[in-house]
Amino acid sequence: MSNAKNCILAQHCSLAGGAQCTKLCPSYIANHGLNGAGGRVGAANLPLEYRGVTLANSPAREEQASIYRVLEGYVPTFARQFEEHPEKPIKSLYFYSDSPGTGKTTTASAVLTEYITRHYIGSILRNRQALDRPAYFLDVNAWQTLYNKFNRPTVPADVAEPASRQYYAWMTAAEVAPFAVLDDIGVRDVTEGFRGDLHTIINHRVTNGMVTVYTSNIPLRDLNTVFREMKPRLVDRMRDLCIEREFVGISHRGLKRA
Ligand SMILES: Nc1ncnc2c1ncn2[C@@H]1O[C@H](COP(=O)(O)OP(=O)(O)OP(=O)(O)O)[C@@H](O)[C@H]1O
Ligand SMILES: [Mg+2]
Repeated sequence: MSNAKNCILAQHCSLAGGAQCTKLCPSYIANHGLNGAGGRVGAANLPLEYRGVTLANSPAREEQASIYRVLEGYVPTFARQFEEHPEKPIKSLYFYSDSPGTGKTTTASAVLTEYITRHYIGSILRNRQALDRPAYFLDVNAWQTLYNKFNRPTVPADVAEPASRQYYAWMTAAEVAPFAVLDDIGVRDVTEGFRGDLHTIINHRVTNGMVTVYTSNIPLRDLNTVFREMKPRLVDRMRDLCIEREFVGISHRGLKRA
């Protein structure tokens, strides 16, 4: 049976659906690993729920049609990653909505998958080695949970140490990946230390012109009140680099999908 439905490359692949489209295809393994949970998609740390979502198959596509139209025009600009001196930089994206469950993370994940696909295919076409981790997904809430695990008054060393190692590994990955999703950056109730680390990642990416998709429950203009202007004008600089879109509609979180 064909492996096309499991492979993010399928929509671009001339072998998709044919006899050679199996779990042993080298390009499938390069992107999904031998066990289906590795490769470049696995290295991106995308939560399971959002793996395999593309712009074409996203459950949010219909309801957020105008945003998906913008994104259909946006993802081809990823080809600029291969230009030495692109005329224009690749923009970043900022998705927000008041209510939860409107498809922000789903859509950010679809864009991430498009980036991996285009990075991989573009590298092969240029006879280059694709990066092992071209894209990374940082779940800011999960990252904060890790932070709290080693920042309590009495934490046994065998709990604190692995948590802190993992915390800094995620932080480094989110800083160095050419493309990153920073999911749910509007988190409130955070300590100054954690907020500082989140700002360090954003500041690094903004300063180096790295492509980032942010999701948030507040518009960019209100981010300063949550960020408390730790880095002067960080939010202004983010805004200069971002296409901002509001996700409207009701929450689909917890609704049974047909
Ligand atoms: N427009 C939509 N139509 C159908 N299903 C949707 C739609 N938007 C989201 N979903 C589904 O609802 C669930 C939640 O979506 P998602 O996590 O993308 O929302 P979110 O906007 O990131 O929410 P939050 O603000 O809580 O982070 C997912 O299972 C997703 O597939
Ligand atoms: Mg979300």
